[in-house]
Parts: sequence; structure tokens; C-alpha cells
Amino acid sequence: AEIVPIPEPPGLPIIGNVGDIDKEFPLGSFMSLAEKYGEVYRLHLPGRSVVFCSTHALIDELCDEKRFKKVPTGVLYEIRNGVHDGLFTAMLEEPNWGIAHRVLMPAFGPMSIRGMFDEMHDIASQLVMKWARHGSHQRVLVTDDFTRLTLDTLALCAMGFRFNSYYANEMHPFIDAMANFLTESGARISRPPLPSFFYRNQDARYWQDIEILRQTATTVLHEREANPSDRKDLLAAMLAGRDPKTGEKMTDASIVDNLITFLIAGHETTSGMLSFAIYQLLKHPDEYRKVQEEVDRVIGKGPVTVDHMSKLPYIEATLRETLRLCSPINVIQVRPIEDTLLAGKYPVNKGEAMSLLLSKAHQDPAAFGDDALDFKPERMLDEPFRKLPKNAWKPFGNGVRGCIGRPFAWQEALIIMALLFQNFNFVMDDPNYQLMYNQTLTIKPKGFYIRTLLRDGLT
Ligand code: HEM
Repeated sequence: AEIVPIPEPPGLPIIGNVGDIDKEFPLGSFMSLAEKYGEVYRLHLPGRSVVFCSTHALIDELCDEKRFKKVPTGVLYEIRNGVHDGLFTAMLEEPNWGIAHRVLMPAFGPMSIRGMFDEMHDIASQLVMKWARHGSHQRVLVTDDFTRLTLDTLALCAMGFRFNSYYANEMHPFIDAMANFLTESGARISRPPLPSFFYRNQDARYWQDIEILRQTATTVLHEREANPSDRKDLLAAMLAGRDPKTGEKMTDASIVDNLITFLIAGHETTSGMLSFAIYQLLKHPDEYRKVQEEVDRVIGKGPVTVDHMSKLPYIEATLRETLRLCSPINVIQVRPIEDTLLAGKYPVNKGEAMSLLLSKAHQDPAAFGDDALDFKPERMLDEPFRKLPKNAWKPFGNGVRGCIGRPFAWQEALIIMALLFQNFNFVMDDPNYQLMYNQTLTIKPKGFYIRTLLRDGLT
């Protein structure tokens, strides 16, 4: 076979391609480089190289778990400072990954998630109340209120803990600590390699934040151990569960790692998905109308119930299409288990970081047709969705390392979408708003404000 070297944008000695990456919005740089260099390119960064792949065919190949595996790198590696071998940041070989994975799979299964409906509905109603009281004369920063929703929902359903973000004037210290911990984990990978005393203040703050996160979760755990309850949340599942393979229980440390992990992996992602969904619907009035019609037809003016969850196919298609065009996690990473040839021609080395550029692959006409760039929920209705090419739609990651929280996020999103469209009409605060991004561990819309108007006849 013909060997083709992977294109490498020219860089500088020592820092390599660091200068090609926009610090505020790296995804933008990765996308432009993909446009310039094509389906695959390699960047050199201090001490490592990363190969970026951006077509459906290459992503499909990288999803082969016999040849490639997830190894936490970059920000994910830094996040291990706080949550160690928790599910999201563990190496596959670490025994705690397997134990937690097997203990938690049933806890994220359909029956358990159904059991969380009332508590999810409780928090979602708080957001509806807030926007109703707000009235239409005040603009709403969409992503902030969705982040309160997703954090409060996770804390309640994971461990029976109420942050009460819609009532408190000050955010709970856990939430501040979480935000700083994630920001600083990101900053640590790109700061110049100066001696550590240059970063003494940041470091002290960083470890303090980790302490706050762990203290809070440990207190909740100890209170539960001291006062057993009949709650059926994720904490209860972790305390009661025994790994079917090894017979082992999760240690207290691993339970704390995973409680914090759910909040890390679950809040920005779900909040981003919901914010982008509202954005897309406001940009696409016909699709907006179809969502509202579905809610009116299926639910009407009565309460949203758990039985409605399987009866909202158009909203589900809208969320899938939103995740295709605006994947909150826009890059996932794997490494080759052995030296190998990509597409039968591009040599890559064992252990080299490979980035699956989902944002680009999700726009590949080879998988989605000539209208791949358009927002069309119809293509994501159950029937066509099932017929998409294998591994064409990967917003929840891949294989055994794919998202364990997907059913959780899905139910939470359906509840809030149903409640919002039942109760409100929405308009953009600035009709000329152009989508901009905030990038941390995930991407979210930046500076996206709306106005919320109560629908007629509803109180
Ligand atoms: C893993 C996306 C919601 C918990 C992942 C991965 C992706 C993802 C792409 C794989 C990451 C990688 O390969 O490095 C999403 C999206 C969500 C969402 C788009 C919402 C729309 C949630 C929620 C939870 C959660 C609500 C918790 C309740 C996790 C965990 C993992 C994970 C624990 C690691 C699984 C493992 O490796 O064993 N998620 N996620 N996620 N997600 Fe989610």
C-alpha cells in the first residue's frame, strides 16, 4: 500500500504549533486547520503531538475499540487531580473504572431514570417559576439558568442534595469551587513552564477548591451512611451495589470521586445542549412551531408526566440535531494500541494522541448529505436516525467509554423542553445575535440572551 505522510502545519522550534491555536476558542482553530489541511493533520505541542481527524470515515475507524482506546489527556488528565480514577477520567485498566462501571450501569438504566422523574420535574418547575415571575421586560442569559437547572438536578438525583440555585442569592460554595476547578484545570495545560512559585496563588486556590468539592461530597456520604434512607438515587446505588464480576463494593474514596464526576460530566454538557437547542429553534421558526405543536398536541395544558417522555419524537429529533451541529463535547480523544495505518495509508504511532473532531465529522456530507450544514430535525426522527451510517453521530462518545449519563440527560432535557414550550413563547433579545462560543471543557453559546413571554391563557 502507498504510505502517505500526515500533513503538518509548519510550526516553530520548541513551541511547535502552539501559536496556531486560539487560547479562547481552540475549536475554531482546529476547524479552520481542518478546512485548510483536510481530513487529517498533525499538530506539534510542547512534549507531544496530536493527530486531528475530521471525516466520518476516519472517525468510524477510530471507534474500533480493538485498535484504539481512550487515555485521559490534556484537561481530562488535570481533572484527575480532583477526581482521580472516577469514571470520566479513569484509564481503562484502572480497576476502579470497571467496578464503578458495572455497579453504576443499572443505576443509569431506564427504570432508575424513570424513578428520578419527580425530582427532575421539581427542579425544572423552579426554572419555569423563575422565568414566569421575571416577565418579558428583563432579558435572560439562557446558559446561566440552564446551568443552575443541570447542577441542581444532578445534586438532587445523585445524592439528595439541594443547592437551591434559583432561590439563593449567593451560589453554593461547591458551585464556585467546581467552576474554578474546571477553569484552572484548563489553564494548567497551556501555561508556560515556569518554576512552581510563579503559580503559588493559583495552585493554593486550586487545591482549596478540590478540598471544598471533596469535603462537600464526603459530608453527604457520611450523613447517608449514618442515616440510611429509602431514597433511590445514585449514591444509594453506589453504597448498596456489588460488582458482579469481582464481588467488590466501591470504596468511599471512589464514591466521592464519582459523585463529583457526575456533576463535572453532566452539568455543562446538558446545559450546553439545552442552550443550543433554544438558539437553533429561535433561528428556525418552522421547527420552533413544530416543537410547540407537539407539546400542545401531546400534553396540552395539563401536567407533564413520565408517560409523556416517550411521546415527544419531534423534540427528541430536535435535541439530536442540536447535538450534531453543536456538540457540547466537540473533541474526544483516543490512542492507537499499536503502530497502525489510518485509512490504510496514514502511519500513526502507538500511544500518540488522536483527536476525533466531532464538530467537523458531524458536518460530513458523506454521512449527512449535501444539506449537512442545515438544521433539519426531520433527519433525526427515529426511522432515519436508526439508518444513519455507523458512528456518524457521536456526541455521547464511543463504546465502553461512551456517556453513562445519556438517559439521565435525555429525560431531564425532555422535561424542561416540554415545560418551557408549554408555558412560554421565546424571542431573541437581540434579533441580530450571531452565535459565539464559550469554550471550557465543553462549548456553550456566549452572550445569548432571550426574552420569555407567558403564553396566553396560562398562569
Ligand atoms: C462520558 C457527552 C451528560 C456522565 C461522556 C463522553 C461524552 C459525553 C462525549 C465521552 C468522553 C470521552 O470520550 O472522553 C455527554 C453529553 C451530555 C452528557 C453531550 C448531555 C447532553 C451526562 C450526564 C452525566 C454524564 C447527565 C451524569 C449523570 C458521564 C460519565 C462519563 C461520560 C460518568 C464517563 C463514562 C466512562 O468513561 O465510563 N459524556 N454527556 N454525562 N458522561 Fe456524559
